[in-house]
Amino acid sequence: MKIDIITIFPEFFQTFLETSIIKRAIEQDLVEIHLHQLRDYSHQKHNKIDDTPYGGGVGMLMQFPPFYDVINKLKTDDSYVIMLSPQGKVFHQKKATKLASFKHLILICGHYEGIDARIEAFIDEEISIGDYVLTGGEIPAMILSDAVIRLIPGVIQEASFMEDSLQNGWLKYPQYTKPESYKGYHVPEILRSGHHKNIEDWRQKESIKRTYHKRPDLIKKIKLTDQEKMILEEIKSENEK
Ligand SMILES: C[S@@+](CC[C@H](N)C(=O)[O-])C[C@H]1O[C@@H](n2cnc3c(N)ncnc32)[C@H](O)[C@@H]1O
Repeated sequence: MKIDIITIFPEFFQTFLETSIIKRAIEQDLVEIHLHQLRDYSHQKHNKIDDTPYGGGVGMLMQFPPFYDVINKLKTDDSYVIMLSPQGKVFHQKKATKLASFKHLILICGHYEGIDARIEAFIDEEISIGDYVLTGGEIPAMILSDAVIRLIPGVIQEASFMEDSLQNGWLKYPQYTKPESYKGYHVPEILRSGHHKNIEDWRQKESIKRTYHKRPDLIKKIKLTDQEKMILEEIKSENEK
């Protein structure tokens, strides 16, 4: 996959690109990430890319021509152009999974008051990372890229992300590592039993229990199997006791 990121603050991405799993994915040629300084496409003196909004109002707006030029330069038939924006649909794991199969993403980071609305004719989708307003699209672009890149085949083990919270609709079961006991806090006995079937059943129930308690809204979106329905009823009745 190739990801082109259009920004006026490419330096934001340095640590992101040079650390941990993302760094390794780039080194292994599983993803190619290119940063494009919007100011290089400025039509004004001193590489200025913003101006005051027509009709009046506070703040500065990013101008349309630099975006027009850079998007047209980068775009091919394989491109999917995403504008990070608080006005977009809120990002989620299913969207990340879908985007991970795309060949080329172009991510547009706004700043200041945002971007001249004429850009909307050039984007395939507006994506928000949550219902709050940030100063710029750089952190949202990193969040989206991180969530997508880890799902590209070969970046991490598929078995690892398939069991992640939200990937199959449920939150993940609780996990523990050594030491077995510390200051009176113990790892559940069943996880040390070596009995695989019992561990699997326990994990499934804990996963459903966590989702029921922490994110009941997620359960409405899951097509429950008969077994999941049964476990959920069991949890509800345990809860009523
Ligand atoms: C201060 S915001 C502009 C908000 C704009 N004036 C509005 O009311 O819709 C500047 C830039 O930050 C980015 N941004 C802010 N909040 C975001 C969010 N929740 N998700 C994605 N991008 C966001 C966008 O790229 C946006 O163009």
